[in-house]
Amino acid sequence: MPTRKKIGLIGAGNIGGELARLCANKELGDVWLFDIAAKENFAKGKALDLEQNGSVLGYDANIRGTSNWADLEGSDVLIITAGIPRKPGQSRDDLVATNLPIIRDVAQNAKKHCPNAFAIVISNPLDAMVYEYKRVTGCPKGMVAGMAGVLDSARFQLFLSREANVSVKDVRAMVLGGHGDDMVPVLSMTTINGVPATTMIAKDKLSAIVERTRKGGGEIVNLMGTSAYYAPATSAVAMAEAFLHDQKRLLACAAYLEGEFGYSDLFMGVPCIIGGKGVEKIVEIPLTDEEKGMLKKSAASVQAVVDICKKG
Ligand code: APR
Repeated sequence: MPTRKKIGLIGAGNIGGELARLCANKELGDVWLFDIAAKENFAKGKALDLEQNGSVLGYDANIRGTSNWADLEGSDVLIITAGIPRKPGQSRDDLVATNLPIIRDVAQNAKKHCPNAFAIVISNPLDAMVYEYKRVTGCPKGMVAGMAGVLDSARFQLFLSREANVSVKDVRAMVLGGHGDDMVPVLSMTTINGVPATTMIAKDKLSAIVERTRKGGGEIVNLMGTSAYYAPATSAVAMAEAFLHDQKRLLACAAYLEGEFGYSDLFMGVPCIIGGKGVEKIVEIPLTDEEKGMLKKSAASVQAVVDICKKG
C-alpha cells in the first residue's frame, strides 16, 4: 500500500515546474509532471533536475515526468496549468479558444484516470476553465476549485502592506469574483490585524491599489512577456496543502455556486473552507451594496466566457 500522497501536475511549464519544486520541498507527496508527448522529455528533464535538487535540500519526494495519463492513476491532487499563458496585450479571456480544447482533453483524461482527485485549476480564463472541467468530468462540486482568489488577495495584500508600511503578515484581505479586470477586492473586510485598512490608508491610495490589483497579472505579463508563475504556484500549493492536511483554511477560491451570493451554475471566487473533503463550505460574508454591484458585474463577465464555452 503506498502511503505517500500522489500529486499530478498537468502542464510542466513555468507554473508546473514551480509547483513541483514547492510540493517536493514541502514533502506533500510524490510528484508527476505531465505534459503533451512533444514535451515529455522536457517534463522528464525538469523532474530529474528537481529530484537532484532534493539531494541538496534533503527531501525524498519522487518526481517523475510523463506524457502518459496512466502514470497519474490514483492521484490525490491534480493541479492543472495545461494551456497557453497570456502575452502582452492579451486578456485572460482571449485565451479561451486555445485553452478550451486543452481543458476538455485534460478533463476527459482526469475523469478516466484520476476520478477521486481533488482538482485545482489554474489555466485561464480561470472561472470558465474550471466550469468546463467540472462539466466534462462530472465530479462532485467540492472536488474541484479554481486558483485565483489566493493569488489576487496576495497581490492586494502586498500593495496594501507597502502603502501602509506594515508587514504583509498583518494584512488580511480577500479578493472575490472572477479572475479578470473586474474582480472584487473586498475593502469592507480588509484589515491590518483587525484595524480597518480604511483608517490607515487614504481613500485615493486605496482606489489606486484596487486598480493595480485588478491589473496585477497584466502588469507582470507586460514586464516579462509571459504570465507570472511563482506566486500562482505558491497560491495553488496553499490550496493543495489545505486539502492534503485537512487544514480547513478559509481561502478565496473559484467554487461552484448553487445560490450562494445569489448566483447559480457558475464558478467564481468566494470565501471557501478547504479541508480533507475539498471545498467543504462556502462562507457567505456580508457585502456592502457597492461590493454586491461589483460582484454582479464580475459575474456577468464570467458568464459571458462560460457562454462561449457552452457554444463551443
Ligand atoms: N495536456 C497537458 N499539458 C498541456 C496540454 C495538454 N493537453 N496542452 C498544453 N500543455 C502544456 C504546454 O505544453 C506547456 O508546457 O501546458 C504547459 C503550460 O506551460 P507554460 O506555457 O509555461 O504556461 P504557464 O506560465 O505555466 O501557465 C499555464 O496557467 O496562469 C495560467 O494563463 C496561464 O493558462 C496559463 C496556464
